[in-house]
Amino acid sequence: MNKTKSIFSENNSRIPIWFLRQAGRHIPEYFEIRKKADNFINFCLNTDLIVESTKLPLKYYDLDAAIVFSDILMIPWAMNRNVNFIQGFGPSLEPMIPAETKIIKNIDIFNKLKPLQKSILKLKNELPKEKKLIGFAGAPWTLACYMIEGQGSKDFINTRRALWNSHTWFIELLETLTINVVNKLEMQAKAGADILMLFDSWSHMIPNNFFQECCITPTANIVKMLREKNISNPIIGFPFKAGSSLIKYSYESNVDCIALDWSVNLSWAKENINSLITIQGNLDPISLTPERSIHLEKNVLYILDTMKDNKFIFNVGHGLTPDCKIKNVRKVIDIVRSYK
Ligand code: CP3
Repeated sequence: MNKTKSIFSENNSRIPIWFLRQAGRHIPEYFEIRKKADNFINFCLNTDLIVESTKLPLKYYDLDAAIVFSDILMIPWAMNRNVNFIQGFGPSLEPMIPAETKIIKNIDIFNKLKPLQKSILKLKNELPKEKKLIGFAGAPWTLACYMIEGQGSKDFINTRRALWNSHTWFIELLETLTINVVNKLEMQAKAGADILMLFDSWSHMIPNNFFQECCITPTANIVKMLREKNISNPIIGFPFKAGSSLIKYSYESNVDCIALDWSVNLSWAKENINSLITIQGNLDPISLTPERSIHLEKNVLYILDTMKDNKFIFNVGHGLTPDCKIKNVRKVIDIVRSYK
């Protein structure tokens, strides 16, 4: 196993492991913390609760990283869009009407998200030195999806219609979001986040002819703007379910690490993805839900065997679900830790 060169460390003696949505609802204690805030936005604005929930999974698991507790929709919230999280439904935003809704520029992310900055400063003091702290943001396309559609969707028709019909307005929205994402990531890096991650959770909704313009270019611009601000932290990009476009993304977005979703065949990835960057992934989080998971060990070993000569971070290929079993997560960590 090429353990020495992933973005986690130049001379790491073990394969780094952490989980997407590791701080969420599969840990019963999460609900105790969650109860202390009257709604999810206020939860994401409460320094003590952010710190407590970020540290929670490290109490349960031998992980190499903590991801700061927040949400990608804190950027639309900071842009004064009406954002709510409805239990059993998910996020709900006031939809933007393409070409008619004025795009607010020059928002002061730094002031609006001060609790996030304070939490990272605190976490840096409280976390053991060897644990990496990950800061994140949603990628511009994915944020635009939520802001136009107003909620999750199976096909994001309103967003795609806006892209075709109100193209200038749409690109102006992506460019404004790009600046806000850069400012949010810069703030997190300066507060002490070691690694930055960019979630493009709806990249599979981009019509193929627009993939460059809506996913790769905004990501490459974010990386470039951060580097120009002397932010040198490794950046993980997660173009969820981007399929064959993953190849171009791996060469042209300039991220340091590409997170692969659970649909990607790792042998294909090894052949086709830019071998200079680290790969993160891609266990199906649903494999962690059965009471007795007979396929789990075999699949974890397949991932480890396939990636043994790559720069690699073990993770799931999308967030852990509320019905994920703690004992299964522990089993995966044990297998990864004892892999020779
Ligand atoms: O543990 C962690 O990963 C840290 C915190 C984190 C949350 N959201 C907390 C959260 C992170 C990294 C996110 C990112 C996020 N948020 C993404 C990108 C990753 C992905 O899953 O593709 C997206 C698309 C969102 C938007 C979002 N926020 C949705 C769709 C939902 C509701 C559905 C769901 O999965 O719960 C949220 C709410 C949310 N964000 C919860 C948590 C723990 C659940 C809130 C609750 O009811 O307590």
